Amino acid sequence: MINEYEIKKEICDIGKRIYNRGMVASNDGNISVKLNDHEFLCTPTGVSKGFMTPEYICKVDENGNVLQANKGFKPSSEIKMHMRVYKERPDVNSVVHAHPMYATAFAIAGIPLTQPIMPEAVIALGCVPIAEYGTPSTEEIPNAVSKYLQHFDAVLLENHGALTYGDSLLNAYHKMESVEFYAQLLFLSKQLGGPKELSRSQVERLYEIRRQFGMKGKHPADICLNAKDGKPSCHSCGQCSCEAGASSEGDLVAEITKKVMKELGL
Ligand code: 13P
Repeated sequence: MINEYEIKKEICDIGKRIYNRGMVASNDGNISVKLNDHEFLCTPTGVSKGFMTPEYICKVDENGNVLQANKGFKPSSEIKMHMRVYKERPDVNSVVHAHPMYATAFAIAGIPLTQPIMPEAVIALGCVPIAEYGTPSTEEIPNAVSKYLQHFDAVLLENHGALTYGDSLLNAYHKMESVEFYAQLLFLSKQLGGPKELSRSQVERLYEIRRQFGMKGKHPADICLNAKDGKPSCHSCGQCSCEAGASSEGDLVAEITKKVMKELGL
C-alpha cells in the first residue's frame, strides 16, 4: 500500500531541491507522481515549488480532472503535458518540469544537446532533442513532446525549459540534474574553444555499457530499425541508429530524430 503522505513529502522535498539549485525562478516548474492508472499527485499552480508542504499537493485523474485539492489550490497549469507522458509511457511513474538556466538557454537558442562530451551524459541521456514551441497549458506542448517520448527520457521545450521523466520521482529529478549539468558543461567548453567530442566508437562503447547494464527507460541506444519491420529489436544488427553514420562532430540528434520520424511514418 503506497503511503500517499510520504509521496507528498517527497514531492515537496524535490521541489525544494529544484528551487534551491536555481532550476526554477519564482513559481515556475511542476512535479507529478503516478499512484495508479487513475490517480496522480501533482504540484499546485502558481506557488513556489521551494516552499510547499504536503497540504499543497493536489490529486487528479488520468485526464487531469481534480480528485482532491485543498482550498486555494488548483493542479498545475501544465497537467496536460504530464498526463500525456503517463499516457504514452506506461513505464513512467514521475514527471518533472523545470527551467534550468543552461538547458533552457540551449532551448531558447534552438540548440539541442547532441555533442557527446562526457561518458555520464552519453550513458544517462544519449542526447536531448528540442520539442517545438507550444503555448504553455495548451495541448500544443503535449503534442510537440509526444513524438520524442518513445525514444528519450529528457526533452528540451523550445523557448521554455526542460521535461524529464522516469520510473521514480528521484530518477525523474536526477535526469533533470543530468540535463542541466550536461548543458552547463557544453556551454562552458564552447567558451574554452569548443569541446573535444568523444569519437563514434567511444560513444558506441558507452551505449553498449548501457545495454549491458539493462538500464531502464528510453534512450537513443535502444533504437533499432528492425523494430520497424516487426522483427525483434536487437543491438547487434548493425542498424541501430548509434551505428548508422552519426558524424563525430555531430548532429546525433538530427540523425536519430530522422530515424524516429521514419519509424513513426512521419
Ligand atoms: P504551474 O505553477 O501552473 O505548474 O506552472 C509553472 C510553469 O513553469 C509553467 O511552465
